Amino acid sequence: MDSFDEALAGLVDAEVDRYEAGRREGVPNVLGIGWGLVLATGDVLGVQVTSRSYTGSPLGTTTTTSTLYTDVADATTWTSADLVAEPRQLARWVSSALERADVTHVLPAADVVGTDVRFGEDGSITVVLDRHEAGLTSLDAVAVRIPAGDAADVLTEPGRRIRDAAVAAAAFTGVPGRPAGSSAAPAGPSAAPVGHPTGPEGTAVDCARVACIALTFDDGPGPYTAQLLRELADADVDATFFVVGGNAAAMPDLVGRMAAEGHAVGNHTWDHPRLPALAPEQIADEIDRTTSALADAGVTTDLLRPPYGETDGTVAAVAGARGYAQVLWDVDTQDWLNRDVATTTQRALDGAFPGAIVLLHDIHPTTVQAVPGIIAGLRARGYVFVTVPELVGTVEPGARYGGL
Ligand code: NI
Repeated sequence: MDSFDEALAGLVDAEVDRYEAGRREGVPNVLGIGWGLVLATGDVLGVQVTSRSYTGSPLGTTTTTSTLYTDVADATTWTSADLVAEPRQLARWVSSALERADVTHVLPAADVVGTDVRFGEDGSITVVLDRHEAGLTSLDAVAVRIPAGDAADVLTEPGRRIRDAAVAAAAFTGVPGRPAGSSAAPAGPSAAPVGHPTGPEGTAVDCARVACIALTFDDGPGPYTAQLLRELADADVDATFFVVGGNAAAMPDLVGRMAAEGHAVGNHTWDHPRLPALAPEQIADEIDRTTSALADAGVTTDLLRPPYGETDGTVAAVAGARGYAQVLWDVDTQDWLNRDVATTTQRALDGAFPGAIVLLHDIHPTTVQAVPGIIAGLRARGYVFVTVPELVGTVEPGARYGGL
């Protein structure tokens, strides 16, 4: 995976250089670089790197997104551009789609069209143009989907390889599964109650009388979220998902499924910035775009989790004005840091107390692997799983819950 690591590091270095060159005195310069998985199937992994910077430009924050792909079996790495044989043809199609949608009438440069290409299970490809790319006057990123038949004509041989992997939609083989028969959960007392200690389906849980606990999953939806939803359904556990708006917009079906299956869904901003570093209107934009993406998926919520748990009076005021309460957490599993099933499980169990909100991230395969063991371990200790709304009840806009 070295070459993939190097390619990712190269992308980040280029963004840092660009930011440093554009820094200005007297304004709050901000750079945030994040990443997310866009494809994980068979031996193929797709990683999107998003850079978000503000250096005083009157156009506001600049966001650029690039997507890299690798085949972990032979450690080959490709940029999106490597996958496109006919960038000019692709640019013409994108341009004509944007014209028809009345987004812009400028022909995007072929190299811009090739920085972020995604692959669908139906063999289609989607070209994502960031807000400031290609002379767009749009207020947001733009995605143009090319149907499978046309897509086949503009892909290179590696591009067809990635497309075929996306179509196969196989389980990602780069992550070892849990060995059969092993459980990451430490053994509970042998006389421990097993199963759901609540009453019949639909009975409200009274957290004043039973030991409630709320599992929360941040930063998705992602490639492992569907598996997590299956695990939660198998265990009959309702949880709370704080989704990133950009991911929710890309995977609305998963967001709809969360709500349909009884989970609570909250707002975790559009692209996960440190909110206190932003101007009030940028904070509002982060929240509002995510509200819209959730609404598109059929979900409304009054719960906001500020990224990194970082908040201040301005964030509280902007959130409160939109009817949002802020939800932090009581138990930090540090799953994003340890990336280890046993450690994540142990931290969840060690930190648990009645009424606690537990922080997990469904974008890490190790976390998703840990969840059945966490549930079994907490159940063995008598805990009842509830969503955050069930735990905190009706919320007060602007107020903070958890982590007090
Ligand atoms: Ni987060």
